Amino acid sequence: MAEVTTEDPLAKAVVEGFSKEPKSVPSWALYDQKGDQLFRQIMELPEYYLTDCEAEIFKESAGEMLRIFSWDVERFNLVELGAGDGVKTEILLRQWMEMGGHLTYIPVDISPHILDILKERMRRNIPNLDIHTIPLDFNKALEGPIQELNQDRKVFFFLGSNIGNLRREEAVAFLKKVKSKMRKGDMALVGFDLRKDPRVVQRAYDDSKGITAEFNLNLLDRLNRELGADFDKRYFSHYPLYDPVSGTAKSYIVSRREQEVHFKKLNKKYAFQAWELIHTEISQKFNPTEIKDLASEAGMEVVNHFQDRKRYYRNVLLM
Ligand code: AVI
Repeated sequence: MAEVTTEDPLAKAVVEGFSKEPKSVPSWALYDQKGDQLFRQIMELPEYYLTDCEAEIFKESAGEMLRIFSWDVERFNLVELGAGDGVKTEILLRQWMEMGGHLTYIPVDISPHILDILKERMRRNIPNLDIHTIPLDFNKALEGPIQELNQDRKVFFFLGSNIGNLRREEAVAFLKKVKSKMRKGDMALVGFDLRKDPRVVQRAYDDSKGITAEFNLNLLDRLNRELGADFDKRYFSHYPLYDPVSGTAKSYIVSRREQEVHFKKLNKKYAFQAWELIHTEISQKFNPTEIKDLASEAGMEVVNHFQDRKRYYRNVLLM
């Protein structure tokens, strides 16, 4: 079996993360091809309210958003960072095309596979849409191709509560980076999941069909496949925990017994005590003050927001 060097981002993440207490793996590692597919299934679950909330906002507010984004300009570039399959954005794009909007849609995602799916579907459903995909990590995209865009207004989208998967300092750094690429008149629309009944949040990350558990534990299959590890999934389980004090939902994988895992390609063994945890993800929930504070720490200002009827979720316009 070929050795993997610690240059490989996944190998590096495991070596670093497994030396911590508790052991951890960054959440991007959850998204291999199977992980992408499981996350798309999660978005269809009734308990995972986030998707429906954002879709409702887009249906209700498409006209107002188009007015704001097109104010004083002939056309704009819609740059969607971490676009995924773009299903929700399509709700807006379809309405905007019917309303006669003029824009170029620029979805950015690290997964070329998911961008192919997006492009295929958009070409079929909105044939006259001007679309340019960028298959890059959004930091690289911001430093590269996005700087080379034409002079039209840029509207950045960062949807789906993706910002909630970043630790606070990462979220601030991300917003600062976006802000540094914004010229006068550019804007950013960011999707924030709001604080709500803790039981509603807990259920969203512990669904009754067990799809979220499968999504989280799929990480172990990925580590087995890509790093030659020998995790036996029967002896690990998914454990989500929402802390309403901090507003953080955390996902863990729990070792159900004392065991040792061998990573052949890393030439390393890791011991797990019974009930030891691997931390895999945070999903931060916010109140409006926390959103305002986060934005201002990044040098941005909240200029508008759109929310669903249940007040579970907010798309916030930043400048
Ligand atoms: C992609 N992200 C916003 C999701 C979330 O809600 O944190 C990922 C997810 N993890 C478990 N369920 C959904």
